Amino acid sequence: MRTETGQDVRLEDYKPTAFEIETVDLTFRLNPERTIVTSRLSLRRRSGAEKNSPLVLDGDELTFAGLKINDVAADESRFTATPSKLEVRDLPATEFFTLEITTEIAPVSNSKLMGLYRSSGVYCTQCEAEGFRRITYFLDRPDVLAIYSTRIEALAAEAPLLLSNGNPGETGDLGDGWHYAVWHDPHPKPSYLFALVAGDLSVVRDSFITKSGKPVALEIYVEHGKEAQASYAMDALKRSMKWDEDRFGREYDLSVFMIVAVSDFNMGAMENKGLNIFNDKYVLADADTATDADYANIEAIIAHEYFHNWTGNRITCRDWFQLCLKEGLTVYRDHEFSADMRSRPVKRIAEVRLLKAHQFPEDSGPLAHPVRPVRYSEINNFYTATVYEKGSEVVRMLATILGLKEFKNGLDLYFSRHDGDAATIEDFLACFEDATGADLSQFSVWYHQAGTPVITVGSNYDASERTLKVEIEQSVPATPGEERKKPMHIPLRFGLIAADGAEIEATGIAGVTTHGDVMHLKKRRHEIVFKGIQSRPVLSLNRSFSAPINIRYEQSSSDLSHLARFETEPYSRWQALNELAMRTLIAAAKSARAEKAVECGPALVESLIATLADDKLEPALRGQAITLPSEADIAREIGNNIDPDAIYTARNAVLDRIAADGSGTFSEIADTILPDEPYRPDADSAGRRALYLACLGYLTRTDTSAEDLLPIFRSADNMTILSGLLGLMAHRFPGSNATETALAEFEKRFSKNPLVIDKWMSVQATVPGSDTLGRVKHLMATPHFSIDNPNRVRALIGSFAAGNPTGFNRLDGDGYTFLAEQIVELDSRNPQVAARILTAMRSWKSLERQRREKARAALGMISGQESLSPDVRDITNRMLGQ
Ligand code: TRP
Ligand code: ZN
Repeated sequence: MRTETGQDVRLEDYKPTAFEIETVDLTFRLNPERTIVTSRLSLRRRSGAEKNSPLVLDGDELTFAGLKINDVAADESRFTATPSKLEVRDLPATEFFTLEITTEIAPVSNSKLMGLYRSSGVYCTQCEAEGFRRITYFLDRPDVLAIYSTRIEALAAEAPLLLSNGNPGETGDLGDGWHYAVWHDPHPKPSYLFALVAGDLSVVRDSFITKSGKPVALEIYVEHGKEAQASYAMDALKRSMKWDEDRFGREYDLSVFMIVAVSDFNMGAMENKGLNIFNDKYVLADADTATDADYANIEAIIAHEYFHNWTGNRITCRDWFQLCLKEGLTVYRDHEFSADMRSRPVKRIAEVRLLKAHQFPEDSGPLAHPVRPVRYSEINNFYTATVYEKGSEVVRMLATILGLKEFKNGLDLYFSRHDGDAATIEDFLACFEDATGADLSQFSVWYHQAGTPVITVGSNYDASERTLKVEIEQSVPATPGEERKKPMHIPLRFGLIAADGAEIEATGIAGVTTHGDVMHLKKRRHEIVFKGIQSRPVLSLNRSFSAPINIRYEQSSSDLSHLARFETEPYSRWQALNELAMRTLIAAAKSARAEKAVECGPALVESLIATLADDKLEPALRGQAITLPSEADIAREIGNNIDPDAIYTARNAVLDRIAADGSGTFSEIADTILPDEPYRPDADSAGRRALYLACLGYLTRTDTSAEDLLPIFRSADNMTILSGLLGLMAHRFPGSNATETALAEFEKRFSKNPLVIDKWMSVQATVPGSDTLGRVKHLMATPHFSIDNPNRVRALIGSFAAGNPTGFNRLDGDGYTFLAEQIVELDSRNPQVAARILTAMRSWKSLERQRREKARAALGMISGQESLSPDVRDITNRMLGQ
């Protein structure tokens, strides 16, 4: 939130509040148009706080309806109430006093989906980051921890179910069709973790016994008729609870844990204490409607929100600058969970692909910011890939540097020392220093400095001296407001691989400190000598992606092929292949740009096909191996003067070449790889389906036609294959009869299931080429679309802007104009979603000149609007460099 003077909020201005709130007693009298909220606060003046200083409570679009001080109606001279603020003066001189505040709110007209709103007739709340102030006036900041009791009153017919945080208390009848329920949460919490749900939903129940023997009732609430679709989420929840006990010793701390699925939600899910609220996309699944990727996301997000109970709720953030304290750490935890539940290398590949696709461009563009920022104008815009994904990588590096055992000791100290606190990144790092004796001062730069570090590597093997000399220089590119950068502590995992594939151990290493297979780069430049190397080795760097950096290293194609063949770590095998593919694709894109014929040398094709045919590798890895970097990946690596059409042409040429050379292998695998049992969403069978679809993709470039795909599409018994086939047909054979038939059949079959129709819309929005804009506009006019539902907006407009490089970046700029118009429209309803979708244009400055000018004009059109939300205003300003 911009402060009233229009200034940014700055970390250096942090001051604790003059008052503590010890307890909060809320009463909601629910009504769609006019809900009455009474909030009774017991306040305590902190020692040292000035006696006559006023109390200023945050509000946002509130209607004030009454104030009592120590149970006596306050005289109007003692307060000022506006929609965004309640200032109370002449407070009692005693240490303790109470305020009772009444507000009126209108859940039905709350289109921002922050605060109390209605989703398909269900009342629900979203309070992070600053939504609680849309319910009642409050000290709405994460360092104000209080004990909450909540009484909910509603018409029993409209809302038979009344839920809030904590443990259930008294319930009863109020006459006239009204009833009530009381909830009490014994754990002090910040307001952003408050939640309320009321409506008519079904429940799926299960239970869990914690490691110290306490029973926990598990409840997942879904729309009537969808009970069966909650069973996978329930299973994932129980596995998360067990895993957090086994791996981190963290036990659950209430007698009930509830999850509610709602269909209108700004993000993925929310970790409200004891009452997680989820976007239904991340709860509901069955073979007919969810893909393997949906199952994996559900598992990860259920775990993520559950893990927040310790990393976020028991220990929360002192202020929003510390967001990565809970998010980076919790993402690290959910990554580790998924790695343990599935395949660790496959999971690591997915993480690196995602980090590079979302965080690297953020870090190299106008929206770059440190993992722990020091200023913001709108906090909603800081729920970013940098805070979440890079934040997780920083925690992973800490574990790499300290070793898993010491890392665990540091984390144990963090849990014991800060339980019940609102903490900072400095507090967090101090725990690892105190528990292990390590000095993390240079490491902490990862939290404070934006930009992706680059290391430039040169190497030379001296046969007579039996040494390998390696020079490594690090630098960090300038980012907005940060020209000069400090050298960072980069933990770089490495290996030396001999001609026969054996791992080589040096007899000594000079010029850098190493621990096992990790070298610790700390200076701008290291000259490293590996001694006792009997034959020329191939250097493998950044194994397991130990640091989130870019590497410039002129390794020959044959060295990369060597690594792709012999690397013992499966992740690094993929990394070498991916690097080889990237080089080929960049060279191809340059040729295409110069309108020269695109060439694809044999090194890549041979390595790819050899990996594909290696049946000692799990299918999912082979699928990843043949999945080339995306058009956006190639654009990111080229970095400037981007022509998306040239990249598209080049990538297709390379794909065609691989398809031609590998057609025998592709068809053999496509014929045999699918599991021959009914659908199960486990990692192995998901990997088989992924490999199958990747092979089919290549086969559409040789002799498989749209007509050949149609019967496979029709006989699919699960959504992964069905939507995979639909995507292949739509993208490879747009406009063909078979494709149009498949689209029509799919639409008809799933027209009553919006989450599946979202897939249908995304497939169409991402068809390459300039014609797609017309299709998107047409789909927006169908009843499937609704601008008020974030999932629909993301599936159609979001997929088009962020997932269709040639379609969105049409040379005439109409893609940008369209997006700008939609952003303006969306902004008046849901600013958070509008701002998020607009970030699809964050790399506009790296486009070639003609497109860049069109993109600038579209951003200027948004910027020229008189009334914009702080959310969209902030993103537009930063993107335009203002
Ligand atoms: N804290 C949530 C998570 O990462 C995400 C979140 C933040 C959110 N703000 C939100 C979700 C607003 C919905 C709406 O787990
Ligand atoms: Zn989170």
